[in-house]
Amino acid sequence: MSAKLDVNAAHGGHLINRIASEDERQEFLAQAERLPRVQLDERATSDLVMIAIGGFSPLNGFMEQADYENVVTDMRLVNGLPWSIPVTLSVSEEIADPLKEGSWVRLDDPTGRFVGVLELTQKYRYNKAHEATHVYRTNETKHPGVKVVYDQGPINLAGPVWLLERDGHPLFPKYQIDPVESRRMFQEKGWKTVVGFQTRNPIHRAHEYIQKCALETVDGLFLHPLVGATKSDDIPADVRMRCYEIMMEHYFPQDRVILAINPSAMRYAGPREAIFHAIVRKNYGCTHFIVGRDHAGVGDYYGTYDAQHIFDEFEPGELGILPMKFEHAFYCTRTEQMATTKTSPSKPEERVHLSGTKVREMLRRGELPPPQFSRPEVAAELAKAMQG
Ligand code: ADX
Repeated sequence: MSAKLDVNAAHGGHLINRIASEDERQEFLAQAERLPRVQLDERATSDLVMIAIGGFSPLNGFMEQADYENVVTDMRLVNGLPWSIPVTLSVSEEIADPLKEGSWVRLDDPTGRFVGVLELTQKYRYNKAHEATHVYRTNETKHPGVKVVYDQGPINLAGPVWLLERDGHPLFPKYQIDPVESRRMFQEKGWKTVVGFQTRNPIHRAHEYIQKCALETVDGLFLHPLVGATKSDDIPADVRMRCYEIMMEHYFPQDRVILAINPSAMRYAGPREAIFHAIVRKNYGCTHFIVGRDHAGVGDYYGTYDAQHIFDEFEPGELGILPMKFEHAFYCTRTEQMATTKTSPSKPEERVHLSGTKVREMLRRGELPPPQFSRPEVAAELAKAMQG
């Protein structure tokens, strides 16, 4: 990979657009009542959107069996392109049985609204234990990603999709910046190198530190909090977005940072998801991607740096986006600054770092996390949300 990446190279070389044209939309609407229906859950709905806007390029639909099996076993699509997470539409036998391969299926969102169409090219069974152990590295249903696999139906419906219409986000319309738009923005700003940041947690100072360390070496920072489905004890997206707005207002240079939402659902697949998260940010036009400690991890399922090591399983250039790896960051009381063990001579007792669980407990008790952990304005916003 050359040092200067083309901001516009999507994964597979071409940014997918599966948003129905006006003619297609009219055609689908005319058939709406006659087509067989499948109701999507929250994750499948966001997957449909991500496919349609090109966030999952080169996927143009839910995965067929050959791609699915290759992805689960070898982290590659059949054409050899790296891909680490299955993107599937799993349904029950009762739903799958009457559907005919070769036909169109109407896709409704969880509220019953007609949102998309699937050209059903394949129905196939899959092995849940195999998927769990390869993708999540565990078969325990206590793992929230594995639980989803076991709770969903045994048949995958596959084929190209169309999104009927790209609606504005009900809560964050201002931050709904799709790949076509983010690429245009990067170009307009003249950014040749852009680092993407994935997060599902409220921003704390270790996040800010690694974001800013990364930004010191590239042209722009693309803050890309995930606002799709998360597990129930994660902090809700609207609260997290308010924290980000506060940070943008007080602590970030507006001309070097873009805040945008990532509509996807979390999988909690740790290392596998880090690769997936990087590829998605490549599709948004990023050239670099931040991978810190236990990226996309949950509980003790993954080693602290497993999500960094997995990048070594690909040849340089294959992913087309460079990981920027950061060690566990903390506030160092000896040097009075944010640091990692790479840059600080501190002893463990001189390091301020708190787990998300600990912070939630503090907030529930009405205590604010210390300024060494969280910017005070953010701490106040979190406290308000937890008590409100
Ligand atoms: S994640 O599930 O989206 O990875 P989170 O929002 O906590 O969770 O993390 C966002 C990014 O920041 C990830 O790359 C993660 O590894 C990194 N990160 C979070 N906390 C720290 C920390 N204390 N030190 C270094 N990196 C961190």
